[in-house]
Amino acid sequence: MTLADLRLTPHERAAHLGADQLRQLVGLVEHDDAADPFPVVGVDAVVMVCGNATQSAQYFVAIWGMTLVAYAGPETGQRDHKSFVLESGSVRFVLTGAVDPASPLVEHHRRHGDGVVDLALEVVDVDRCVAHARAHGATVLVEPHDEADGHGVVRLAALATYGSTRHTLVDRSRYDGPYLPGFVPRGSGYVRRPDVPSPLFQALDHAVGNVETGRMDHWVRFYNEVMGFTNMAEFVGDDIATEYSALMSKVVANGNHRVKFPLNEPAVGRRRSQIDEYLQFYGEPGCQHLALATADILGAVDALRAAGVEFLDTPDAYYDDPALRSRIGTVRVPVGELKRRGVLVDRDEDGYLLQVFTKPLGDRPTVFFELIERHGSLGFGKGNFRALFESIEREQEARGNL
Ligand SMILES: [Fe+2]
Repeated sequence: MTLADLRLTPHERAAHLGADQLRQLVGLVEHDDAADPFPVVGVDAVVMVCGNATQSAQYFVAIWGMTLVAYAGPETGQRDHKSFVLESGSVRFVLTGAVDPASPLVEHHRRHGDGVVDLALEVVDVDRCVAHARAHGATVLVEPHDEADGHGVVRLAALATYGSTRHTLVDRSRYDGPYLPGFVPRGSGYVRRPDVPSPLFQALDHAVGNVETGRMDHWVRFYNEVMGFTNMAEFVGDDIATEYSALMSKVVANGNHRVKFPLNEPAVGRRRSQIDEYLQFYGEPGCQHLALATADILGAVDALRAAGVEFLDTPDAYYDDPALRSRIGTVRVPVGELKRRGVLVDRDEDGYLLQVFTKPLGDRPTVFFELIERHGSLGFGKGNFRALFESIEREQEARGNL
């Protein structure tokens, strides 16, 4: 099989993404599903609980350039909550907020604040995946079942992962509706500014989980054994420590590398790490950041900054360091262009990547976004960890949480 034969999902094709583009954006590789005990196509949706999903949906449409495509709520017979389905390229976000004061989502939001509750995975065979997961000790939260409407049938199940996070498993091969049964198509009246690139991001590169001290290897094994994911990278010791704080990270990925889950745990340091802060304010393990793959990080950052999005700042010293300049070599724009926007750069044996991190998206210092533009590198910006963590520590200090 050549890369040109890579099977794209209908969702990717609808977003006009090609195999070569996905290889560059997210490091997509060829993979034989037949030999895989738990074949995963890709991330189906990132489901977030929001304190105000109505306004969050407007934020992601107006600021992050996403497109509202579907909706469920009281008007469609869903009395408990409202859910807005947004897309950007092949990325699908579902934002859910309570309507009924008695909704369990109210208590969930009180405990955790805004956050990711479900990293839903599109799979080829829900029943086979659940059987494999159960045999390897996973907790099955929802047994395989069909849901149907006039658009066809979706096969669904759900597995528990770290904290209260879940992986819904979705087989939508017999379904052509806008999301799931119960949702209706819906657009928004938002008029995009013609000078803003669209979309700002095309694919989900990775979703990071923060887990408890001493539990990283447990969750790595969980993804190895339950889902057949393989280990891509690990970062321990000096890679990932500053003067004050430390963490450890390992990355697991599915066969085709559409799904990459770095897993972080705090490590002993002189002061509290960003992972400790996350665990305190989220209340338990959870999803720390979502990395959005973009083909134009400079255009995206310009548009997002102009819309008021705040990014972690990078000191000028980062760009002026001769070691950085010799390490990164030539990238597609002059370093001054990166410096002006606070975009970080890292290079490894395969190529380079550009990345930038937002401040926390909501009120609590928990979930945030990364923008990443890959040029061959399949890494995660290891060369930037120290600069990144020192930047986060400055924010923690300002919050009184270092
Ligand atoms: Fe990341």
